[in-house]
Amino acid sequence: MTDPTTLAAWDHRHLWHPFTQMADWLAEEPLIITEAEGSVLVDVRGRRYLDGVSSLWCNLHGHRHPALDAALAAQMKRVAHSTLLGLSSPPPIELAHALIGVAPTGLTRVFYSDAGATAVEAALRIALQYQQLRGASRRTRFASLVEGYHGDTLGAVGVGFSETFHRFVAEAIVPAVRLTPPHVFRWSRGMDAEGALAASLAEAQATFAAHGPELAAVIVEPLVQGAAGMWMHPPAYLHALHELAHRHGALFIADEVATGFGRTGRLFACEHAGIAPDLLCLGKGISGGYLPLAATITTEAVFDAFLAPYEEFRAFFHGHTYTGNALACAVGLASLQLFDEERTLDRLAPKIVRLRERLATDISPLPHVGDVRQQGFMVGIELVRERASRAPYPAAARIGQRVARAARARGVILRPLGNTIVLMPPLAIAAAELDQLVDVAREAIAEATAA
Ligand SMILES: Cc1ncc(COP(=O)(O)O)c(C=O)c1O
Repeated sequence: MTDPTTLAAWDHRHLWHPFTQMADWLAEEPLIITEAEGSVLVDVRGRRYLDGVSSLWCNLHGHRHPALDAALAAQMKRVAHSTLLGLSSPPPIELAHALIGVAPTGLTRVFYSDAGATAVEAALRIALQYQQLRGASRRTRFASLVEGYHGDTLGAVGVGFSETFHRFVAEAIVPAVRLTPPHVFRWSRGMDAEGALAASLAEAQATFAAHGPELAAVIVEPLVQGAAGMWMHPPAYLHALHELAHRHGALFIADEVATGFGRTGRLFACEHAGIAPDLLCLGKGISGGYLPLAATITTEAVFDAFLAPYEEFRAFFHGHTYTGNALACAVGLASLQLFDEERTLDRLAPKIVRLRERLATDISPLPHVGDVRQQGFMVGIELVRERASRAPYPAAARIGQRVARAARARGVILRPLGNTIVLMPPLAIAAAELDQLVDVAREAIAEATAA
């Protein structure tokens, strides 16, 4: 392997890191990960770090899990990739079969791609074409949640919204119809949870009454709006949006790229509300955090609308070179099997409870912690400059980055969302490591906010 100093120099000279102010990056020595095991990442100099955000929310069973490594190695001996355009192959077939077995009722067809954003793009385009094909030619718009995030390709950006992310592309995207979810801490101030829910539902009803006939679909991150800062809404809101979408002739798209595969305590967040979407977007954890893979799963009713003689050109003209990649699907299948073999969700339940208790005793009392939001193994700790007024830290204070830096010095990797500290460890994290994560988060928040 290239020596650490040369690697750092080449990183600085040749790489452009995502979601990164490169001026800051270039001013520091990069942390270069060379190995990992379980919930621990090891850097080029042999230092060990707890992976507190599951390598950006995707690792489930730990790094270098023997079963996943074996599935990958076995598939490598057969074929790494052959196309799904005109051909098929066992791993995508078998994974599709397994996914349909665990997905919400009624979902029967798997369309593969390779990132969360591409799973969303496919869902949006399937919804648009489906509506056209069934003669609803006016249904060309989408509704989505305020501060939703669905990925960084332009269609996905259009249905998401964040001022920062939209700043330079606003003129080039088609904005969605916005629905305000019931977030008590910032947007529904002065209201309790029930009041906020009632207000959001009333707004949604009015919005659907005004825009219903234009909508191809409604897209929602079920229960947790991750990138917004781990904003949570109750299952009742999700349930009501699903019902409103159908009542107004729109499809319902559940973007479970972040919430899928056990993150919320159930395999899929939709299960908490007892709903089955028309389109389900999966990414991140679908390959256990090993390889780029994503899926858009839909119903037979949607699929059937695309069936016709070739010359009518009703086919879904959409896809990617690496769609259904055999290596990624083989690992995905092994990852899904681990949920049964290791009883992942059963063993997760007490860890979720433990995490809730530790957050209440160790994190909530800290003077600059404004709000602690948790749904399963998704946690957002929002830091505020002043607790009483909930006044946010200014961006220039870089409070999230300072906490992450203090955590790193203590051997834990965190990646904040602005002023919100995210804890999102691998589902398989050991109890002692979970305690270490909370201990370090507490110390790091205390140190950064004391300054
Ligand atoms: C809900 C949701 N949808 C889509 C995406 C985009 O996924 P990707 O980064 O794999 O394109 C993300 C990524 O964080 C996400 O949280």
